Amino acid sequence: MPYRPYRRYHPGTQPEYLHSPYVSSQKRAPSQPLIHLPHTISEVTGPVFSNNVIDVKAFDLTKQHHAEPIGERVIVSGRVIDEDGRPLPHTLVEIWQANSAGRYAHAIDQHNAPLDPNFTGCGHTITDAEGRYRFVTIKPGAYPWQNHYNAWRAAHIHFSVFGPAFATRLITQMYFPGDPLMANDPIFNCTADESARNRLISLFDWQTTMPLQALGYQFDIVMSGRDATPFEDHHGAHR
Ligand SMILES: [Fe+2]
Repeated sequence: MPYRPYRRYHPGTQPEYLHSPYVSSQKRAPSQPLIHLPHTISEVTGPVFSNNVIDVKAFDLTKQHHAEPIGERVIVSGRVIDEDGRPLPHTLVEIWQANSAGRYAHAIDQHNAPLDPNFTGCGHTITDAEGRYRFVTIKPGAYPWQNHYNAWRAAHIHFSVFGPAFATRLITQMYFPGDPLMANDPIFNCTADESARNRLISLFDWQTTMPLQALGYQFDIVMSGRDATPFEDHHGAHR
């Protein structure tokens, strides 16, 4: 079967392995030069996802329990496109996030903020024929972390987008416009190029805002090439 390799990321538009203000990157960053591996059929192929498996509880995180979660309801939607601007249909999009108080429903998260019995914070969906996806969720709260004195993560939603092949899977974080914590968030600022970094910030959107129901945010994701959405961290940190 013929296949072609995927274009590598454009220099400067992705986080460096070592970004000293992000303290854990100091230990994680490779100390030796990387070995360049050619893409083979193992990297340029991948599973095919069917939207038969997606029900409303998967993409509406406010409907996963008996009652509604506490917090500000939001709709996050957008398009997944490839390096040439073509939509990527039928690709798996997954999200995970803290609740409105800034607490993950995860054993490792011991932040002194309440858990919400009606919010797990995980969802998934499949893009449609035009590459569109849509989630209904709760706006996540900011939370403290140990990186430096008085460190707080800007509110964010974690995204994984599979793309057409194993080599294209993108893991990133989406931020909210106007959040004052972004300026001092070392993970947000890992991406040196300002315009690339700003592609991580969603846009408030009247078109998808629903009267009396939820604010809408648009977040388009470019899988690779010059306009690629920055990868959150090449080593898969999840904070
Ligand atoms: Fe997080």
